[in-house]
Amino acid sequence: MEKKALAEIYHEETKYHEARMGKFQRPLDWGAQPSPYKDYHSEKKIDLIPYLPFQNNPFTGEPLPPAKEQGGYPFGIGEISRLLYFTNGVTGILQYPTGQTLTLRAAPTAGGLYPTEIYVAVRGLSALESGIYNFQVKDHSLVLVWEGDFWGEFERYCMRHEAIANANLLVIMTAVYQRSAWRYQERAYRRILLDTGHILGNLVVYAPEEGFTPFPIGGFLDTSLNRLLFLDEAEEGVLAVVALPQREKVNPDEIRPTSAVASQRMPKGEDDLKMLQLQLHRVSSILPGEKSDLSRVQQPPDLNILESKYHLKEANALPDVPIEWGESVGQTILLRRSTRGLSGEGFLKEELASILEYAYLPLSAVPMPLFDPSILETYLVVQKVVGLNEGVYYYVPQKSELRLLTAGDFREQTWHFCLGQDLARDAAVLVIHIAHLKRAVEKYGDRAYRYLHLDAGQIGERLNLAAIRLGLGVSGIGGFYDDEVNALLGLSLDEIVVYITTLGRSRSS
Ligand SMILES: Cc1cc2nc3c(=O)[nH]c(=O)nc-3n(C[C@H](O)[C@H](O)[C@H](O)COP(=O)(O)O)c2cc1C
Repeated sequence: MEKKALAEIYHEETKYHEARMGKFQRPLDWGAQPSPYKDYHSEKKIDLIPYLPFQNNPFTGEPLPPAKEQGGYPFGIGEISRLLYFTNGVTGILQYPTGQTLTLRAAPTAGGLYPTEIYVAVRGLSALESGIYNFQVKDHSLVLVWEGDFWGEFERYCMRHEAIANANLLVIMTAVYQRSAWRYQERAYRRILLDTGHILGNLVVYAPEEGFTPFPIGGFLDTSLNRLLFLDEAEEGVLAVVALPQREKVNPDEIRPTSAVASQRMPKGEDDLKMLQLQLHRVSSILPGEKSDLSRVQQPPDLNILESKYHLKEANALPDVPIEWGESVGQTILLRRSTRGLSGEGFLKEELASILEYAYLPLSAVPMPLFDPSILETYLVVQKVVGLNEGVYYYVPQKSELRLLTAGDFREQTWHFCLGQDLARDAAVLVIHIAHLKRAVEKYGDRAYRYLHLDAGQIGERLNLAAIRLGLGVSGIGGFYDDEVNALLGLSLDEIVVYITTLGRSRSS
């Protein structure tokens, strides 16, 4: 019998089935919920709030003095403060009658659990000591964790990605697994990667406003990087490194276009099914001395694969209607919230076209900030869009084309497979990301699982921002009966559902 990759086993084992939900629905132990914050105590703490471009302190509402002068060579703390804030800073505080507060951030997160931590490495700045810092979301500060210039290590551990040599700033995203696993158990890893992809999405769209060109790097020596950050690998691991050279310092054409690198598939032991998500992360690691076939993956992804699917089906071309972002995409990031209820009303085909156009812009961007969009495919369930028939469509991003696969009203099915969430029934459109996992694993080993979910999260964040900018409602959906989605889309057994985003009109608007 054909041996399955751990990524395939993990996905199969973490599928939700209506009849087997008991396995995933254990009562929550509220006393055991991990904190969404990591505390670092250090004398060297840099308050980033004075650099924010706001009249009021986002934490206290107190008036803020005018933003501090920039200053600094080659750039100052202001750029870093705003970059981190619009990537994953606190953008909302909810006060409950009980006195409890809930802080919300620039990027969404499944279940409000915030598993992603952010570290920052800098060197050669006049305004900030060289070193590795932890970004303290709860008070918008940086805490110096490790003093010194670690570029030699980062270059080596990130397989000599050229963008690092050109940068004075790196953002490193890690996951503290238990924050999400506390609630979602083995299926947490999927959501952790999607959450982190959303954060990556904010960073990628906002970084150019501060003069940086972002290069997300997914190919790195895991253990070496985890050790550099003093992470306990059983608790926390690096998911992505983003090099942020200043725009004028790089010619993106001369830098590796994508940094998706294969991991080696390793033989699996008998205890595979225990702590599956941690094992999958470990097995998909790249180890020092391991020969990853860089030449194989340095080529730009072949997007023709997406175009050739269903090419004989009836095509519906979407108009070119770019979104007008105003002064800064940051204004939209500030407004972004997941919609708690959709009205069931529809929106226009032009609005859908705008949202998709923005979400898939990275495919033609240089540098292309996705790990490999040729292994991720997009289906739409159109439930109410003026100018489009209801039904299941395949989306071809390079052609802005929808190919009708099955006409019909599938609200009952979408409601059911999204675990009975009304968001799905009342959405105008569901955007569903899928992948042929076997093929993806052939290309990248088990590490493909990371790239697929990080990329889907990044595109998901762009769908969020575009919808918010157009005054529409949007929410990610991380829990679904996988096989039922496969059945509606007509997918094969080797294809997996990665992520669902619901779009529509908010109930209140
Ligand atoms: C990967 C992912 C999965 C999510 N799944 C759901 C879901 O199934 N149902 C839902 O109502 N919201 C879902 N959300 C939205 C979160 O509940 C929301 O992001 C979180 O409560 C924080 O609120 P905010 O997005 O308004 O900042 C999801 C978000 C993400 C990123």
